[in-house]
Amino acid sequence: MSLCPRRKVELWLKGFLSCTYSWVKLEDINKVFCFNKTPITEDTFFRYQFLNRVHPVVIRHCTELPCNFPITPVMVKGNVFRADYKILEGVPATSSTSLRFTHLVCANPSPQPSCVSPLPPAAQPVPRPRQPHLLPSDSEWDWILAKTWVLYADVLVYEAVSHLLLTHLVNKAFALATLRQQPMCHSLFKVRAGLVHRVLNSPGRGLLEGGAGSGIERTKVLMAKGMSCLSYASLCFPDDIQECEVDCIPNYYYRDDGLKIWSAIEHFVSGIVRHYYRSDAHILADCELQAWADETFREGFLGNEVSGRGHVNPDIAKLIKYLTMWIYCCSAQYATLNNGQYELGAWMPKFPASMRNLPLQSNGTTSLESYLDTIPEVNSTRVAIYSLWVLCCEPGDSRSLGTYPDEHFTEEEPKRVIAAFQGRLAQISQEIQERNKSLPIPYHYLDPHQIENNTSI
Ligand SMILES: [Fe+2]
Repeated sequence: MSLCPRRKVELWLKGFLSCTYSWVKLEDINKVFCFNKTPITEDTFFRYQFLNRVHPVVIRHCTELPCNFPITPVMVKGNVFRADYKILEGVPATSSTSLRFTHLVCANPSPQPSCVSPLPPAAQPVPRPRQPHLLPSDSEWDWILAKTWVLYADVLVYEAVSHLLLTHLVNKAFALATLRQQPMCHSLFKVRAGLVHRVLNSPGRGLLEGGAGSGIERTKVLMAKGMSCLSYASLCFPDDIQECEVDCIPNYYYRDDGLKIWSAIEHFVSGIVRHYYRSDAHILADCELQAWADETFREGFLGNEVSGRGHVNPDIAKLIKYLTMWIYCCSAQYATLNNGQYELGAWMPKFPASMRNLPLQSNGTTSLESYLDTIPEVNSTRVAIYSLWVLCCEPGDSRSLGTYPDEHFTEEEPKRVIAAFQGRLAQISQEIQERNKSLPIPYHYLDPHQIENNTSI
C-alpha cells in the first residue's frame, strides 16, 4: 500500500471517532485509512519491506535452512536471507508471553522486486517446544496473521534498538563528548558544529512515548540487550554489509545507496582530517582529540571491550573511519530508519505497534474475527498514527547532509573539500532519482536531498 497525501490525516482521525475499541469488520479499517494500492502484490510488498522500507537492517544471508523449518532447498530458490528476532527472547512482548520470530526471505536474482519468490515466516512463541510454522499455502487468515506478528516483532526491534539506541542515543553520546572535550575552535568540532545542540534538544522517542509503542520498560530491556552486543564494526556500514553477507542480494537499494553515501562522507572526512593532521604522531599529540575518543568509547560504547577498540588511540586512517561512522550513523542511517515511519506506519497492518492475544497456537485456527481481535485496537492505532504524523513533520531548522552555512571553515582547502562533498552528493541524488524512475516503488530515503545533517526527532 502506498500513502495518500498528508492532509488526509485529518480525515483519518475523524474516521476514528466513529470506531469503538475493536475493529468489528474489515470495512472499519478501510473507513479509517485512506490508501492507494501499490503496483506489487501483498506478499511481494511484505518481503520488500525487509529490503527497502523503514527497517532494512535485519536480514542476514542464510547459508543453512533452520532445521526446524518445514522447508526444503527446493522450495526456496535463489538467495535466502533470514530475519531472526532472537533479541526478543525473554522480553515480554505481550502481556503474557515473550516472542521469538524467525522469518525467511528469499530473493531471486531478478531485476524487479515483484519477482522475489514467496517466502514463509515462522511464528514461534517461546518457550513452546513445538511451534506452528506458516507458509503462504496455509489458510488466508493464518498467513496474514503470521505476517502481522513478524512485522510486530520487527517494529519492537526497530523502535528500541535500531532507531532509538543506534541512531539517537549513540549520537547523543558523541555530541556530548564533543561539547565536553573539544573547544569550538577545534577542527573536528567544526565538522559537527551547529549540529550538536539540535541533537541534545531532540527527544528521539518515536512511538515509544506515544502510548502505542513497545512500552518504556520493554524498551529499556531491549536497549540494554542491544547495547551488550553492539560492535563498532556493525556501525561501519561497509563492514556491516559484509558481516551480514548481503552484498549479493539483488534490488537492495538501501545497501547500494548507503555505500555510495558512506564513500562520499569518507572522502570528505579524509580531506578535512588530512588537511589538519599531517601524521599519526600529530593525532597522538592532540590531547583534546584523544580525550574525545576516550569519552566516546566510555559513554557511547559503555567501555565494552567486546565492541572493538578500532577507534581508541586513532591514527589518521582510524580517525577517518571513526568520524565517517559517526556522521553516517546520524545522517544517512538515521534517514533510512526515520524518514519512512509515517509513510509505512500510517497503514497500521504494515507497522503494528502493539498486538493483543497470543500468536497462533496451531495452524488453521485464525478467522477474520480473531485477526481483528489481535491487531492493535482502535485507540492505540489512533495514538500511533498521530505520533508518526507529528514526528514526520519538518522541524523547520533542518539542514541537509553536507551543509555548513556557519562559515566555521575559512581556509581554502576545507572549503574546497566541502564543495566537492556537496557536488558528489548532488550527483548521487541524481543517480537515485534516475534509478527510481524505473522502480515500481521508488526508494528515496537515501536521496541526499532528503538526508538531514543530523538526527532530529
Ligand atoms: Fe527519530
